[in-house]
Amino acid sequence: MKPRYERPVIVRHVPGATSKFGVLSATRPMKAFEGLPIADLVGRYGSPLFLFSEKVLRERIRELRDQLARRFADFTLAWSYKTNYLDGICRVFHQEGAWAEVVSGMEMRKALRLGVPGRQILFNGPYKTEADLEQAFRSGVRVHIDHLDELALAERVADRLGIVPEVGIRVSISELPVPSWDRFGFNLESGRALEAVRRILRGGRLDLRALHCHIGTFIQDPDAYRLAAKAIGLFSVVLDQELGVRVDTIDLGGGFASHNTLHAQYLPGDEVTPSVGQYVERIAAGFEEAFDGAEPPRLVLETGRALVDDAAVLVSTVVGNKRMRDGRRAVIIDAGVNILPTAWWYRHDVQPAQDVYGTPEPTVFFGPLCMNIDVVRERIMFPPLRAGDRVVIGHVGAYNVTQWMQFITTRPNVVMVSPRGEHGLLRRAEDLETLLAQEEMPAWLAS
Ligand SMILES: Cc1ncc(COP(=O)(O)O)c(C=O)c1O
Repeated sequence: MKPRYERPVIVRHVPGATSKFGVLSATRPMKAFEGLPIADLVGRYGSPLFLFSEKVLRERIRELRDQLARRFADFTLAWSYKTNYLDGICRVFHQEGAWAEVVSGMEMRKALRLGVPGRQILFNGPYKTEADLEQAFRSGVRVHIDHLDELALAERVADRLGIVPEVGIRVSISELPVPSWDRFGFNLESGRALEAVRRILRGGRLDLRALHCHIGTFIQDPDAYRLAAKAIGLFSVVLDQELGVRVDTIDLGGGFASHNTLHAQYLPGDEVTPSVGQYVERIAAGFEEAFDGAEPPRLVLETGRALVDDAAVLVSTVVGNKRMRDGRRAVIIDAGVNILPTAWWYRHDVQPAQDVYGTPEPTVFFGPLCMNIDVVRERIMFPPLRAGDRVVIGHVGAYNVTQWMQFITTRPNVVMVSPRGEHGLLRRAEDLETLLAQEEMPAWLAS
C-alpha cells in the first residue's frame, strides 16, 4: 500500500523519552493475548474490548498466598469486591481460597449469591443500612464498624434479633509515612478507637473480635505496613492487657501497588513496584515488634489492585489522527475515560497491536467522548497509526469495570481468556436497550 503523505512538522526535542535501556517500549507490538491473536478476539467480541487473563489472576493470588504462608501460621485473603466484582473474577479468587471483602449491601448480596458463606464475608465501609446489618448478622457476615452512629445502629439490630454478633472495628492510624485516611474508622492516636472498644464492652450487644485498618491505596513504601502492623498489633495487646478483650483477627486491608505507573512517577511501575514478598516481609516485621515472639492474631489482607490490575488489557481501535498546535500527533481511539477512569491516575502503557512503521513522535491519545477531559494518555512516543489500527492499553484490571460510567456511549464486552486458550464473556456489552430498560416516562409526558 502506498504510504499516505504527511506534511512535515518541527517537534520540540523531549529528553527522557526513551527508557533507561534506551528503547522505546511503545513500538513493540502486542499482537496476542495469552496466545490468542488480538485481531481474532476483536473480530469476535468487538472494540473496545477488555481482556482478562485467568492465568495471571491465579498466579498473582498464589504468589501472595505463598509469601504469606512463609511467614504467618494463620492468615486469610479476602477479595476486595469493589476492585472488580464481576462474578467470573470473584469466582477465580474464591476458587483459590479467598474470602470476600465487601463495602456495601449490594456487594454483600453479590457475594452471598455467588455462594460465599456468610462467615467468609467481611463487611467494611462507612454506610451500612439497618437492612444490610440485619442480613449481615443473620448470615454470619463479620461487620467492621466505621463510626459511633453505626455502632449504635448495630447494637439495636443485634438487640432486636436477640443475638450477639461477632464484629470488628475499623481503626485509622495517622502517624504513618502515607496520607492519613482518618475519615474512615476510629482514630488510634486520638484515643477514639479505645473509646469505641469501651463503648462496645459497655453495650454488651456486640462481640469484638477484629481490628481492621486499610492505610490507603497504591502504597509504594512497604515499610508503611510494618508501622501499621506494629501500631495495630500494640493496640490489640493493650486491649488484651487492660480490658481483657482478645481479638482473633488483625485485618490490614489492601493497598499494595500494582505494576501500573502513576502520573507523577518517573520510572515505570514495572521497574519500581515493590514485590508482594517485600510488603509481606514488612508486615511480619511489624507483628514481630508488636507481639515479641507471642502468637499474633490471624492476619487478613484485602489486597485488590495488586492481584487484578496487571491481569487485564483494554484493546481499542484508532478512529482518526490530527495534529495539535504544539506539534503533538493526536490519535483518537474508541476507548475513553468513561470506561478507563484510571487514566486520570495512571500513565497507562499503550502498545500497538500490529506492526507499525515510521518514526516515533510525541503523541496524545484521546478517547471518543466529546469532552475535553477525555485523555487516555497525555504524551507518549509513538509511531504513526492509521484509522483502523489497534492499540493495547495495559494494567487495566483494577477499578475500571466497577468505576466505569455509562456516559455518552455504552460499555463494551469484557472477556476472560483461560490458560487453555478458551475465551468467554465475563460481561456482555451494553446497547441502547440496556439504557432504555432503566428509563421511565412520567405519565404527564407520555402522550
Ligand atoms: C477497606 C478496603 N479494603 C481493601 C481495599 C483494596 O485496596 P487496593 O485495591 O488498594 O489493594 C480497599 C480499597 O480502597 C478498601 O477500601
